[in-house]
Amino acid sequence: MYIKKLYLKNFRNYREQIFELNENANVFYGDNAQGKTNILEALYFAALGRSFRTFKEAELIKFNHEYSNINLTYEKNNRENNIEINITKKNNKVIKVNGVKLNKNSELVGNINLVIFSPDDIMILKQGPALRRKFLDILISQLKPKYMHELSEYNKILDNRNAMLKSKNLETIDVWNEQLASKMEIIHKYRKEYIDKIQEKLVIIHPGLTDNKEEILIKYKTNFTSKEDFIETLKRNELNDLYKGYTTEGAHREDFEIYINDKSLNMYGSQGQHRTAVLALKIAELNIIKEEIGENPILLLDDVTSELDEHRVLSIFDVVKEYQVLITCTDLAQVLKYDCLTKNIKLFNIKGGQVENSGE
Ligand SMILES: Nc1ncnc2c1ncn2[C@@H]1O[C@H](COP(=O)(O)OP(=O)(O)OP(=O)(O)O)[C@@H](O)[C@H]1O
Ligand SMILES: [Mg+2]
Repeated sequence: MYIKKLYLKNFRNYREQIFELNENANVFYGDNAQGKTNILEALYFAALGRSFRTFKEAELIKFNHEYSNINLTYEKNNRENNIEINITKKNNKVIKVNGVKLNKNSELVGNINLVIFSPDDIMILKQGPALRRKFLDILISQLKPKYMHELSEYNKILDNRNAMLKSKNLETIDVWNEQLASKMEIIHKYRKEYIDKIQEKLVIIHPGLTDNKEEILIKYKTNFTSKEDFIETLKRNELNDLYKGYTTEGAHREDFEIYINDKSLNMYGSQGQHRTAVLALKIAELNIIKEEIGENPILLLDDVTSELDEHRVLSIFDVVKEYQVLITCTDLAQVLKYDCLTKNIKLFNIKGGQVENSGE
């Protein structure tokens, strides 16, 4: 799968721009704050219907403009496809795939499969569970659109249960417990399946990144295996939940943890071990997507040459030789020194929300 053309209108600092992309490596270089990451953000938005930087879609519209438009042409299974998204200031979003308007965001996900690696990802294994859940949820959603639907249903039920807890009226709590537990069971199954798949990949990838010195293990942190389990917990938690005014346990609080040589990475890991483990996670994600859809996903690499050392950059560049990859950087020489990339590469010099010049 690869992106052929990206058209941006009033998106972030772009007034109007077309990018014609190469099937292999595309490098966007330029000074800070010129619009390099904005390109990756637009692509991510077209793939997942959301930004990796903001929840407020109005922020994506160019200052002092009323609407923004992204139009993307890509090839998948040897067929050309098109995605068009319009956003307006009043939070109206219209998504069309091959000219057909979608009813829900979740219908968009899975058309384009991509993996992004950005400086913020270093935090995935360091900070609280929210980023890890997001990583897992996005991976599964890209491959199983039904999962995204179930997750959003779960969240609606959760909102209702929480509203009830806040109102201190527990009359229908059993109904919400039952509904929440049903969804939880489904979500749990998917998450377990994919944590297992990640583990299968990690044990192959991680030793290669650490000269076989370290053993990696990913553990799903959950207290539930079945619906009945979860109903029991919800009942047991009722008083505490009532006191706190929200649901204290469930799919929205789950997590996973990485162990290196049987020690928690989160507790004992060095900076370097964190970077390697995140890199291994991202490569695992690429491999899983590739296996399941039978095509190469697209890889977005934001500023990796300034964030990772040479050894790690080489590991990722080496893996993605046959993928379409979009790379941003401030120092072009830092990227071009890697032989594995220089075969088929298109360069875009980005300046003030414009392509100053481009070439193969
Ligand atoms: N809605 C918007 N309208 C106009 N300009 C915007 C909007 N949102 C962000 N910008 C501008 O976009 C620029 C940042 O773009 P981007 O994050 O792509 O930079 P970058 O080239 O990746 O820089 P760096 O190398 O520092 O990562 C800033 O100058 C910012 O003011
Ligand atoms: Mg940037």
